[in-house]
Amino acid sequence: MPLVPMRVLLDHAAENDYGLAAFNVNNMEQIQAIMMAAEETESPVIVQASRGARKYTNDAYLRHLMLAAVELYPDIPIAMHQDHGNSPETCFSAIEQGFTSVMMDGSLDADGKTPASYEYNVKVTKQVVDEAHSRGVTVEGELGTLGGIEDGHGAGLSEEEAREHLTDPQQAEQFCADTNVDALAVAIGTSHGAYKFKQKPTGDVLVMSVIEEIHKRLPNTHLVMHGSSSVPQELQDIINAHGGEIPQTYGVPVEEIKRGIEHGVRKVNIDTDNRLAMTAAIRKVFAEDPGQYDPRKYLGPAREGMKKVCLDRMTYFGQAGNAPKVPVKTCKEMIDFYK
Ligand code: G3H
Ligand code: 13P
Ligand code: ZN
Repeated sequence: MPLVPMRVLLDHAAENDYGLAAFNVNNMEQIQAIMMAAEETESPVIVQASRGARKYTNDAYLRHLMLAAVELYPDIPIAMHQDHGNSPETCFSAIEQGFTSVMMDGSLDADGKTPASYEYNVKVTKQVVDEAHSRGVTVEGELGTLGGIEDGHGAGLSEEEAREHLTDPQQAEQFCADTNVDALAVAIGTSHGAYKFKQKPTGDVLVMSVIEEIHKRLPNTHLVMHGSSSVPQELQDIINAHGGEIPQTYGVPVEEIKRGIEHGVRKVNIDTDNRLAMTAAIRKVFAEDPGQYDPRKYLGPAREGMKKVCLDRMTYFGQAGNAPKVPVKTCKEMIDFYK
């Protein structure tokens, strides 16, 4: 089957009360790891690429790698998503490249750093929705601002800063009415990258109650959790035992993600955990076999490490077993749905 619009996966997840991990990719091994895990667990798949990933891979390589995944796994529905589009132009170029879903992140200006006004956010998001839906492509918007790469707080937000950036549930209702997005990314105190929390997060810093409130107001909107890596202690330990220097840090506990899934979260963004898994595997090879110089000998274990993370999340979020059950639609078929 061709790449599917993300909306069909989100709808099926909502109807059947599960969540879908959305994994970031930058190279062949990462796409392979996701697809190997999906095949083993019979999971539908969301693969996403940031602007940085598209630049790193070059769109043509990425497109053909995704087409290879489609060819090799004809029974697995796969959505290809632009992560954090910074402008309508970025989203439109993704659609031209065959992405079946785009995120217009209008919570920030086009520089990808400065928090934007509500009016700007609505304007650019609506512009993308109008164009994308006319082609059957799914749109994710964002209201509120995450930490990490989005606002330059590389070491994560302080408790107070995180509170200032949370999504306002009332405004979320207005935003969805104003833009007609398929999915809404919400800010609940998480940040991108490995350094999210200085201790295991409590409800003061990881404010899951915001999700519950938004879901009450918008029961039919698919919610998205960004910055949802759990930053497993085990991976930090392996990296540090083999020459790495990752200061002690805490991510989003998977139980909290499960709680989100019980309250309307359908897409869970994960990049950092896979980066850590690959780094841990590569460091281990280099430490144990310093003479090694064949990339397959360290990229292979890295791929295995990432596959394990993907397997764990696919199973825990409940998407496992659902690949054969999703009523697949093409982008073309979705055009009528949006009309
Ligand atoms: O949005 C954050 C993702 O982890 C992508 O990160 O911009 O370094 O590719 P990146
Ligand atoms: P992590 O850095 O927590 O993996 O988040 C990834 C993300 O939100 C991509 O958009
Ligand atoms: Zn994100």
